[in-house]
Amino acid sequence: MDRTVVLITGCSSGIGLHLALHLASDPSQSFKVYATLRDLTAQGPLLEAAQARGCPPGSLETLQLDVRDADSIAAARTRVTEGRVDVLVCNAGRGLVGPLEAHNEGAVDSVLDVNLAGTVRMLQAFLPDMKRRRSGRILVTGSVGGLMALPFNAVYCASKFAVEGLCESLAVMLQRFGVYVSVIECGPVRTAFPEKLEGGLGGILDRTDPETRDLFSRYRRHLEHMLVEATQDPEEVVEVFLQALRAPRPALRYFSTERFHPLIKLRFSDLSGSSYVAAVHQRVFGDQATEGFEGTDCGEAEAGAGELGAPLATPQ
Ligand SMILES: NC(=O)c1ccc[n+]([C@@H]2O[C@H](COP(=O)([O-])OP(=O)(O)OC[C@H]3O[C@@H](n4cnc5c(N)ncnc54)[C@H](OP(=O)(O)O)[C@@H]3O)[C@@H](O)[C@H]2O)c1
Repeated sequence: MDRTVVLITGCSSGIGLHLALHLASDPSQSFKVYATLRDLTAQGPLLEAAQARGCPPGSLETLQLDVRDADSIAAARTRVTEGRVDVLVCNAGRGLVGPLEAHNEGAVDSVLDVNLAGTVRMLQAFLPDMKRRRSGRILVTGSVGGLMALPFNAVYCASKFAVEGLCESLAVMLQRFGVYVSVIECGPVRTAFPEKLEGGLGGILDRTDPETRDLFSRYRRHLEHMLVEATQDPEEVVEVFLQALRAPRPALRYFSTERFHPLIKLRFSDLSGSSYVAAVHQRVFGDQATEGFEGTDCGEAEAGAGELGAPLATPQ
């Protein structure tokens, strides 16, 4: 029987690396994994882990693929010797956290280019063949930050919101072709993502005003607290990818955690947006923030956060 050919972007670390290893070492030996990396000199950890896990020969191949570069995508496609990709995993992504005016030159373009335009480029390259063959699965690494926006993550959330629209639109049409697109909505996952944030955490903070810097500090405290509570291991998330991959008729969305469902539901239950904005503001900054920048007490503010029964998401 033909193996299922899987091509994954962003396999130098994190979710992509773990998914590639999991599939390549699957006891069924039913997957051929093309693990792609922006920079092949970063393939050491993947190859070492593949060896340690005893991935059978021929189960895993690495290819250079930069989602910002259409030529590199086309070149990688020609290296797929089976001549088809059954499962495309659009996973490559970059984060950007901080006040909008503190972002480095180029950081906004870079994040939108990788997270949104990069996903579009991958789909443009691989979808036509799936449609022609009337078969194929597309798994996109999404984020709860694509379903509910978080302060100081405006551009990252914009990119992930855009990915939601992209996939939802395609899902409606692709049903006709027997091709399924699924977004794997992740909460915080323990990966190299925070270390690889564009411009580092916060960016150029002296470009912004003191009140915004103070709010950013509060956000960071909130974040540290929430990361301790909510972060998942990549292997947990990989299981969700497998669920989508095995489903006879995959759904549009799968969630790595239900922790953020109350806030997501709140967002959609009051379409004016007011309830969501108020709840998140209260959670992150505390209700005293509305009294003004001077004299607010962050400790009390955090103590008041929690009425929705779920912690707020992290920047990822
Ligand atoms: N970690 C989380 O908490 C979390 C939560 C929700 C969603 N996500 C999403 O999960 C996905 C994977 O992130 P991760 O958490 O596994 O973080 P990660 O370890 O930083 O992995 C991101 C991967 O994307 C790659 N990448 C970046 N720019 C690229 C480009 N131009 N072309 C190809 N690959 C590129 C990185 O490669 P380099 O090493 O070469 O830069 C890296 O391999 C992202 O889409 C992210 O938005 C993560």
